[in-house]
Amino acid sequence: MQKSSKPASRGKTKAPAAIRGSVLTLETPASQLVLARCGDVWTFAHLGAKTARPADFAALVKARQCGDSANGNPTLETYPAFGSTRPSGRESAAERRGALQVRHADGDVNVDWKCLGVAEIPADDGATEVAITLADKAHPSFRAVQHFRAYADCDVFETWVELSHAESAPVALSRMDSFYFDASRLAERFHFLSLAGNWANEANVSETEVLRGQKVSIGATSGVRDAWENNPAFFLSIGDRATEESGRVFAGALCWSGAWHATAEHGYTHELRLSAGAANLCGPYVLDPGKTLPLPKFVFCLSEAGKGPASRALHRWARLHRLPHPGNRDILLNSWEGAYMDFTEKTLTDMMDGTKELGGELFVLDDGWFGRGKYARDNDTVGLGDWFVHEGKLPRGMAWLAEEARKRGLKFGLWFEPEMANTESELVSAHPDWCLQSLAGRPLRLGRGGTQIVLDLCNPAVQDAVFDMVDRVIRDTKGLAYIKWDANCDVNNVGSVYLGPEKQGNLWFDYTRGVYALFARLRAAHPEIVFQACSSGGAHAEYGFLEHADEFWGSDDTCAQQRVFIQWGENQFYPACATAAHVTAVPNHQTGRTASLKFRFDVAMSGRLGFELHPKNMTPEDVAFAKRGVETYKRIRPVVQGGDLYRLASPYEGDHAALAYVSPDRKRAVAFVYGLGRRCNDGSVSPLRIPGLDPARRYRVEEINLEKEGEAPALGALQGARLGGDAIAASGIPFALGAGDRSAVIELVADNRG
Ligand code: GLA
Repeated sequence: MQKSSKPASRGKTKAPAAIRGSVLTLETPASQLVLARCGDVWTFAHLGAKTARPADFAALVKARQCGDSANGNPTLETYPAFGSTRPSGRESAAERRGALQVRHADGDVNVDWKCLGVAEIPADDGATEVAITLADKAHPSFRAVQHFRAYADCDVFETWVELSHAESAPVALSRMDSFYFDASRLAERFHFLSLAGNWANEANVSETEVLRGQKVSIGATSGVRDAWENNPAFFLSIGDRATEESGRVFAGALCWSGAWHATAEHGYTHELRLSAGAANLCGPYVLDPGKTLPLPKFVFCLSEAGKGPASRALHRWARLHRLPHPGNRDILLNSWEGAYMDFTEKTLTDMMDGTKELGGELFVLDDGWFGRGKYARDNDTVGLGDWFVHEGKLPRGMAWLAEEARKRGLKFGLWFEPEMANTESELVSAHPDWCLQSLAGRPLRLGRGGTQIVLDLCNPAVQDAVFDMVDRVIRDTKGLAYIKWDANCDVNNVGSVYLGPEKQGNLWFDYTRGVYALFARLRAAHPEIVFQACSSGGAHAEYGFLEHADEFWGSDDTCAQQRVFIQWGENQFYPACATAAHVTAVPNHQTGRTASLKFRFDVAMSGRLGFELHPKNMTPEDVAFAKRGVETYKRIRPVVQGGDLYRLASPYEGDHAALAYVSPDRKRAVAFVYGLGRRCNDGSVSPLRIPGLDPARRYRVEEINLEKEGEAPALGALQGARLGGDAIAASGIPFALGAGDRSAVIELVADNRG
């Protein structure tokens, strides 16, 4: 990540020193993580609200952990491994789980840690970071360095582990989790919330009680499209099921774009075991002596006041520390649904004219601009992997096209799918061994278009070749401001010629590391470029890709009514500034449904607004509305993209959805309400109770983005009223929404008179 692209002022306040003897305290503004030394290892002693005497937790945890009942006592170790011994000297079944399982060079399959030391690591962003070094007692060169980081400006912790050894031969890692938490009797009920989906149906919210004696496990095995099947983030309610504003919630997200798993287990004696990490799908990871393996980061937080604060903490962390570029995102027009691969130079310059007229700021050319000769990309069967301009469609080249955008005052962006190729391409014709493939020479399984394969990005030579091609296009396209990074195939041919027979188990991990290495190189060479993470829609909506990319494409389903649900799921963990949401044509290309342009706008305006249509197909009335909508969005953009999210009414629980963003200084807010197939005369929607306002201020309340100028607002007599933040939080703004799919946007601006 280009740390330099972040403002120096981010997170200046220094958190207190972390290490005091056998107690380690990491603090965020409102929460605290206390670790206590217990025998040879460190244990989790407290995660929750700040307390004045963290050492008390250390005393309590020692008493608990060192008890001698083999069952029911948690290990609480910060990084338990298979085969470890309890501080009491006993071994129990619990130790046969753990975060790590290895086979040492001598064949031994146990790890029993001894802590070699703890260090505080200086951080330049105000965070507190510590590193605990653990070594196996029988193989002292086998080490885990476990990092914990607490942010000074958001209530989020981060942890990661680096494994290394100097044994006489490679060590095989069959489990290598990033996070493991094993505690007992925190509560007697647990509820697990996660996201599940598929193509054009991403991020459905699923929540279930994890009953006594049960495990809930989520994960993904694609190797590429790893936020579809499940998303690598979850909430766990500790005790009764948390609401938006009440209940104890642990939130966790694995920052990883490859195969992964996360599990919550509720033991019979009320142990809670949480684990998350990269998944090995075809045998152990083989770690050579002298190499260090950094495992994916895991971010987590604990809210004592429901899911809302947990979401807001993750969003804030993402805005301040994870996404590469600060600030507002541009309003763009992406060419995909407006032209697909069927375009000429004129199609694109017409689209640019339309983008300009609508008030857009960036024009993005999607798939179809590359491939040469017989591999020219006119459909999805050819050309992928050949990053050369399609001269048939763009005879004047990409620099010319980018200049056309610049002349209109627009930035310019391009689509790439760097990890992939078609077998029908110059690249694969010249380098068949660069495709992932079985070592037995089985026929390739082919993806999209009947010809798509995944490149072997474990291989640095493949990384170099892709880097060179993409880098050259970027350099040739002066001023390129944005890249949509797509990935439309799973690892469906399992094998890497580069890794060789002994290391096929490394494929899942090294492939993703290869993707990150390529990404990091492109970003280092072109730090100003904003990337979008896309993978057949929303399969890269996760914090692994969102270290390099500033935003994600949430779904190829652009139907506004469906997007209310998809974005609701995504906003549990990911911020609005990263949620690309486009206004598209009707009938919708995926669902065939129709929605008013206002409804489509109102939905897209709750994320990073964009368009995906050909403006020339819009009626003059639509253009007039859209121009006003874009102007309005520009005014509310800092609140939506930089504000705190409050989910007010869930689309899963009724016939409408509502959410609001409140600016960090609490002087401005914007609320969105979406009716979803409401019946006639079915009563008003729930009053908009917005908890995050300043109770001491009064706000001018105004419905904006009305369908027609001069139209009567659904707010009725309250249009323009001044209301106290306390009254709005307590009673809510009453609101009448008609039948069907109506929507409304309400802006709240604090009155200077107080
Ligand atoms: C994927 C993306 C779409 C579009 C197409 C282009 O499906 O999700 O947005 O870019 O690829 O082929």
